Amino acid sequence: MTKAEKSAELLRKNQEALLGGGQSRIDAQHKKGKLTARERIDLLLDPGTFEEIGKFVMHRCKDFGLDKEYYLGDGVVTGYGKVNGRLVYVFSQDFTVFGGSLSETHAEKICKIMDLAMKNGAPVIGLNDSGGARIQEGVMSLGGYADIFYRNTLASGVIPQLSAIMGPCAGGAVYSPAITDFILMVENTSYMFVTGPNVVKTVTHEEVTSEELGGASTHSTKSGVAHFACANEVECINHLKKLLSFIPQNCEEEPPRLPYTPSDEMRPELDDIIPDNPNQPYDIRDVIFGIIDEGENGFLEVHKNFAENIVVGFARLAGRSIGIVANQPAVLAGVLDINASIKAARFVRFCDSFNIPLLVLEDVPGFLPGTDQEWHGIITHGAKLLYAFCEATVPRVTVITRKAYGGAYDVMNSKHIGADMNYAWPTAEIAVMGAKGAAEIIFRKEISEAADPEAALKEKEAEYNHKFANPWRAAHRGFIDEVIEPHQTRQKLITAFEMLQNKVATLPRKKHGNIPL
Ligand code: HXC
Repeated sequence: MTKAEKSAELLRKNQEALLGGGQSRIDAQHKKGKLTARERIDLLLDPGTFEEIGKFVMHRCKDFGLDKEYYLGDGVVTGYGKVNGRLVYVFSQDFTVFGGSLSETHAEKICKIMDLAMKNGAPVIGLNDSGGARIQEGVMSLGGYADIFYRNTLASGVIPQLSAIMGPCAGGAVYSPAITDFILMVENTSYMFVTGPNVVKTVTHEEVTSEELGGASTHSTKSGVAHFACANEVECINHLKKLLSFIPQNCEEEPPRLPYTPSDEMRPELDDIIPDNPNQPYDIRDVIFGIIDEGENGFLEVHKNFAENIVVGFARLAGRSIGIVANQPAVLAGVLDINASIKAARFVRFCDSFNIPLLVLEDVPGFLPGTDQEWHGIITHGAKLLYAFCEATVPRVTVITRKAYGGAYDVMNSKHIGADMNYAWPTAEIAVMGAKGAAEIIFRKEISEAADPEAALKEKEAEYNHKFANPWRAAHRGFIDEVIEPHQTRQKLITAFEMLQNKVATLPRKKHGNIPL
């Protein structure tokens, strides 16, 4: 072969690789409202930055006619590039090649970029669109999945791992995304389940569609498997980029910081949020927007439609990334239940893994009572949140806006479990329980023996309220560092996080803790 012929061969192979499973399958992909693996990478990465690795890899299977069917790249496009100037590694499964199914070689390509990402300390982004294990390969593809799961686990807490689900993701394939830090799904074109509708019908006789069983809406509202449900693929990729903007490249780095020019940081609108009636709800997001940079537009809410009684998400304060965990009095009075505990615990652990300071906004009447919660393990699940806060060594600041009752006071980043700065608004109520319940227990005898028990209860309730439904006992003890007016909050928090920016805290030496799973 001449040099010119060799170059022509390279050109031909490059063109062939770009076509994946062929034009007709690309057209079919578009018809379903889906982009191709390469179009997704183009949308994600800064123009001209993608460097492909393993473009000419082919499978090694000889069974079931696969010795006659080869596609360059073997159903996954892998490589590295930049998002807003920062290095990321990416794999994008190509549904046009054997339905994006995972072969031994497909898995090797993914593992190769994961290994590079670990050595070089940069995030891995998986764009998933796959029919699962390549059926013709049997255990070779199962082994390939396990190789990925193993790397996902070792990489957890070292580099951020983000999974976008942009098509099918079924069987054991769901477990790689599940180990990663965030799952984003696209409405109507993606689904995740361990067993599909046919198996469900055979085993449990339930009739259910793929969308109902494991679509974006199901996983972002009912199961909590997905952190974001996006209307379409473009929105999904924009969410990926926004998420990356808040987080560092690896666990050794600080999150990116935007420029910030100090100005008047007083926020008078915060003074009008807490209603006069302590039992009236308000939207904690109004408090969040009043505190953070850029208001509503600066908040990337995670798990927005799951366990809505707690709000978690990323924001910036004076240009610094922070993670916010906030009870939501507008939903179930902001009570802590199983799902809220799990949601918040996982978020706290992500932030702590990646050096993102935590701000807690607290208005919580306690843990949700009832057989449903107890029988499903609120004790174990509530303990997850407690454990996550106790273990977090990032700067931690709490603002109690209103209620801080019972065990929930301890759990929600109290001073006792390692918070660095604890503020309360004058409307704070910090006590073991609500006044009525407290009066009924500790003054039971006096009330039952009183001439007018109802009036006696009211009187004792008022006495308890007067003593405890305020921030003063806690402030006198130093459990609260300062009682502040709401309008001062942003200023106080900016100063506190600045003071804490060089915080060093270490945990006792151990192999690893045993979080109550
Ligand atoms: C090999 C596969 C494949 C697979 C799809 N294809 N899945 N090839 N292995 N797992 C091929 C099809 O033969 C077809 O090839 C092309 O991909 C597109 O598939 P279609 O069925 O035409 O597409 P669609 O109608 O959109 O349906 C997509 C699908 C369906 C729902 C994903 O293909 C499907 O049910 N596939 C099997 C899913 C599955 O059971 N996977 C194993 C899960 S168990 P042509 O040549 O026609 O284009 C598992 C274990 C992992 O993953 C364990 C890890 C621990």
